[in-house]
Amino acid sequence: MTSTSSFLIVANRLPVDRVGEDMWRRSPGGLVTAIAPVLQRREGAWIGWHGAPDEHLDPFDHDGMHLIPVPLSRQEVELYYEGFSNATLWPLYHDVVATPVYSRVLWDAYRTVNERFAQAAAEAAEPGAVVWVQDYQLQLVPAMLRRLRPDLRIGFFLHIPFPPGELFQQLPWRREILEGLLGADLVGFQRPGGASNFVRLCRRMLGLNHQKHEIYTEDGRVVRAGSFPISVDFSELDTLVREPHIVARAKEIRAELGEPEYVLLGVDRLDYTKGIGQRLKAFGELLADRSVKPGEAVFVQIATPSRERVQAYVRLRDSIELQVGRINGEQGEIGQQPVQYLHQSYGRDELAALYLAADVMVVTPLRDGMNLVAKEYIACRHDLRGALVLSEFAGAADELRQAFMVNPYDVDGLKRTMLAAMRATPHDLSRRMRSLRRRVATYDVDHWAREFLTALEA
Ligand code: ADP
Ligand code: G6P
Repeated sequence: MTSTSSFLIVANRLPVDRVGEDMWRRSPGGLVTAIAPVLQRREGAWIGWHGAPDEHLDPFDHDGMHLIPVPLSRQEVELYYEGFSNATLWPLYHDVVATPVYSRVLWDAYRTVNERFAQAAAEAAEPGAVVWVQDYQLQLVPAMLRRLRPDLRIGFFLHIPFPPGELFQQLPWRREILEGLLGADLVGFQRPGGASNFVRLCRRMLGLNHQKHEIYTEDGRVVRAGSFPISVDFSELDTLVREPHIVARAKEIRAELGEPEYVLLGVDRLDYTKGIGQRLKAFGELLADRSVKPGEAVFVQIATPSRERVQAYVRLRDSIELQVGRINGEQGEIGQQPVQYLHQSYGRDELAALYLAADVMVVTPLRDGMNLVAKEYIACRHDLRGALVLSEFAGAADELRQAFMVNPYDVDGLKRTMLAAMRATPHDLSRRMRSLRRRVATYDVDHWAREFLTALEA
């Protein structure tokens, strides 16, 4: 019997992955980056999978958080996590940039696992507790949990885009997903467009009445939809990056790269939504047509391994590694490679040093819920130097208007914008960065959580 809490986070993943007996590694992705500091500052617990199949673990404490592991079998990892979550929903919700797989076997596993998470939350919640369910892997949990525990206050937040009806309607289980989400009292999205798409679909698919963003359900409840753009822990990064060992490491990184005039940086999970191929193509062409001279610039691409057994990710890795090899083979020299590609995960210190070392941060997703890397870069540039190249298709584009905006599908535009960011004057850079920092410092992750939870408890 686990002890109960008045505040629960329910997410597919715990903030740490089990990688061996008593060995834990921070889980990848923006959800963990954002939610961990929120829970560390509140009393509560986090329910989620611990990243290893076929393992039952007892609840434990880690890094100031109480964690309640939910087991997944090897087959569930394949069908629910790699399958329905990441081969069906992920591509469908990201503009079908890869083709979604529709399979009843995957759907059945999704339902079964969602039921298990709902059960775990029902057991761990105090009477009247606030339960905050996270992301696309658990969209059925709100309704399942409400059936088990009508006394709870249930919030749901979608970290990825919520697609327009034209795409969402492809999903054979579209009604079930909408009904699952409507179990929540408040359904949060990154952008206003996501909230409007959801409300419209509830009307069109389920025939529900609504007034603005309040939806009237058949059982007489009112469900609110709203947008709550997520953010980063600005002050933590701002403090970290001023530490002497980070500053020294940033200098060392530039030296190790051969003191080029420009360091360009990409930091992403290795995901086909991130536009990594597009930015490398643009950089390769800048070298080939001599807009950038040999040795003048180095592109560092850090790509965290992600979802490595899903077909589209296997293909992406092959294609990026081929592309990097081509550029270095054609444009490099002995002892000097224009693209430094690292298929590895790094700690917070090393990432902060990389952000500080980079003249141009290149963030070019084809579609992204928010993109926290862009905000992390801004939080790290108290020196007001550094340029952010940002895709119009990232949620962050709504807020970060002073970035060098780009359409990542337009290779010439991408080349022009990357060059403009490299050649910008210090005055222009500091003007832009000051305004970007003002935005991220004010709308940090605490602000996000407070806004959502206040609306939920209202
Ligand atoms: P997503 O949630 O799709 O992965 P985000 O940009 O919102 O994209 O969040 C990614 C998070 O993962 C950021 O906090 C970033 O610092 C972290 N991250 C990305 N790449 C790496 C890496 N190679 N090593 C460590 N952390 C990484
Ligand atoms: C994105 C998703 C998260 C997910 C993360 C890492 O941020 O919104 O829900 O946890 O990517 O992906 P993974 O499949 O490794 O959990």
